[in-house]
Order: sequence, then C-alpha cells, then structure tokens
Amino acid sequence: MTALNHTTVMLSEAVDALLGAAAAGAGTYVDATYGRGGHSRLVLSRLSTQGRLIAFDKDLEAVADAQTIEDERFSIRHQGFSELGELPQASIAGVLMDLGVSSPQIDSPERGFSFRFDGPLDMRMDTTRGQSVAEWLALASVDQITEVIRDYGEERFAFPIAKAIVARRQERGPISSTADLAGIVAGTVKTREPGKDPATRTFQAFRIFINAELEELEQALEASLQVLSPGGRLVVISFHSLEDRIVKQFIAKHSKEVYDRRMPFAQPAIMKLKAIERVRPSGAEVAANPRSRSAIMRVAERLKEAV
Ligand SMILES: C[S@@+](CC[C@H](N)C(=O)[O-])C[C@H]1O[C@@H](n2cnc3c(N)ncnc32)[C@H](O)[C@@H]1O
Repeated sequence: MTALNHTTVMLSEAVDALLGAAAAGAGTYVDATYGRGGHSRLVLSRLSTQGRLIAFDKDLEAVADAQTIEDERFSIRHQGFSELGELPQASIAGVLMDLGVSSPQIDSPERGFSFRFDGPLDMRMDTTRGQSVAEWLALASVDQITEVIRDYGEERFAFPIAKAIVARRQERGPISSTADLAGIVAGTVKTREPGKDPATRTFQAFRIFINAELEELEQALEASLQVLSPGGRLVVISFHSLEDRIVKQFIAKHSKEVYDRRMPFAQPAIMKLKAIERVRPSGAEVAANPRSRSAIMRVAERLKEAV
C-alpha cells in the first residue's frame, strides 16, 4: 500500500457545517468519501458516545486505511456513494461528500491518474470492477472519444485529440500508458493555457467518464434526500464546474416551491431542502495547499416535509 498522504480540504469548515448546531453529535453521520479519513477523524472526535459514522469509499487503499480506525462508532463500506440509498430512510443526521480523487490516488504512478508520472493507463477508483481507460480506449470510436473529451474535459480540441488517439492505435497498437496518452495530446493541442499541461483536460475527462463520477453524484444527491432526517445537513465539496453545477442545481431545484403553470390551483411541489451557504477555502488554505484552490463547498439542510 502507498504511504502517500492526503491534505484534507476545508476540514473544519466542512465538519462544522455537517454537525450544524449539534455541539456533540449524537446522530448517525455519513462520510461518503473517506479518502484518508481527514474529515472522518474530526467528525469522530466531535461525536458523542451515541453518535455513529458510516464511511464509504470505492478505493481499496482508502478502505484499508479506514480499517485501521479502531472505534466502534465507525464503519467503512467498500461501495460507491450512489448506493447511499441502502441506508434506512430518514436515519442520517448529515452527509458529507468531498468529491474527486485523493492525493495518494493522483500521486501513485501505478494508478494511472496523472500525466506527471508514467504508469499504466487505468484511472479507476475501484480497481476491482469496470474497465480501465486503456481498455476503453482500445475499442472506442473517434466519436465516442470526442464526446467524452468535449463533455467532461470542456476541451476545444476534443476532435483532433480523439482522431490522433485512434490513428496512433491503428499504427502502433493500444495506448497503454499515461506517458503515451500525454504525448499524443501534447502533439495535438497547439495552444497552451497558462500554467496548465495540455493533457489536463483530457485526463480529467477520461477520469470522470471511467468512474461515472457525474452519474454517481446525481444518484447520491437524490439518495441523500431519502436518507437524511429532517434538519440533517448535506455538505458537498466539489473541485470543478461540472460537479459544482450539478450540486448547485440540485439544491436550487429542491429549495424552491415549484408551481405547475398548467394547473394553477394544484399544490406546489414541496421544498425538500434549505440552502445554507456556499464557502470557498481561505487564502491561507490555498497558499498552504494549492490543490484546494478550486474547491467550492455547498451546504443545505433537509426540511421536514409537510404532509
Ligand atoms: C478528495 S478524496 C476525500 C478525502 C477525504 N475527505 C480526506 O480528508 O481524507 C475523495 C475520495 O472519494 C472517493 N470517491 C470518489 N468518488 C466516489 C464514489 N462515487 N463513491 C465512493 N467513493 C468515491 C475516492 O476514492 C477518494 O478516496
């Protein structure tokens, strides 16, 4: 197992928001993205003896780390957080999601997440199931690759990159390493964004696609409405605009009374959430941990539904 560390982003802000007014939490909380347990450990230190923390992570190394926590109030599940809905309805006092990848994932060449190190082109958070990026790229068409790079990487050069990938595959066989992929992208993208490697957007796109990150997020947000008890907090930290847009629109949709204009006398759709706050990391945190610079934390509270 790798010994690389993860510096937790918005540690106290997220835990304060999760626990809300509960000074010493006695409820059951969920850390949907255990990682290396930065948020989990702080939550546990603030829970009362009756409190419980259920953590999720898709990554076996994260799960192995969690298994070193000896605390009977804590449990870890090797599951995608989209399966949150398996928990009993209205039983959870707060759900925290700190999205994306952990530093140990990015910084381990053998996981294949980064263009900065050469390694197998994998990028799966859960290496026990699904296809690696290399396996997908071995069969995907130019159109499929273009769509993924354009939609998940917001990359202007999606089509030429996809064409170059398929041409290289036809000439020299499968693209199996991160260095191969980074080289193809660098040879295709001619304009440079300041401070950004030309492969940044393509790697982001493949990672989001291969892990179904946006679909997982949408399902988990819906499931959180089922499992949160009234007054329970939903706290989501996202790191790019595609994720943040989903979280923002989800909270907005459920924190408005919606009237059906075709049925003016019908009851409006019930508000399920109250938006609490949107928080960015402090300047000091960004200076100390540059990976926090794009973080946006959104907090909402589950409302009691009128019957
Ligand atoms: C940014 S890290 C979390 C770091 C953690 N808060 C800490 O302080 O150590 C994100 C973690 O979430 C996990 N993850 C991402 N998407 C997931 C999903 N859909 N289901 C379960 N775990 C997921 C990743 O494997 C990674 O370990």
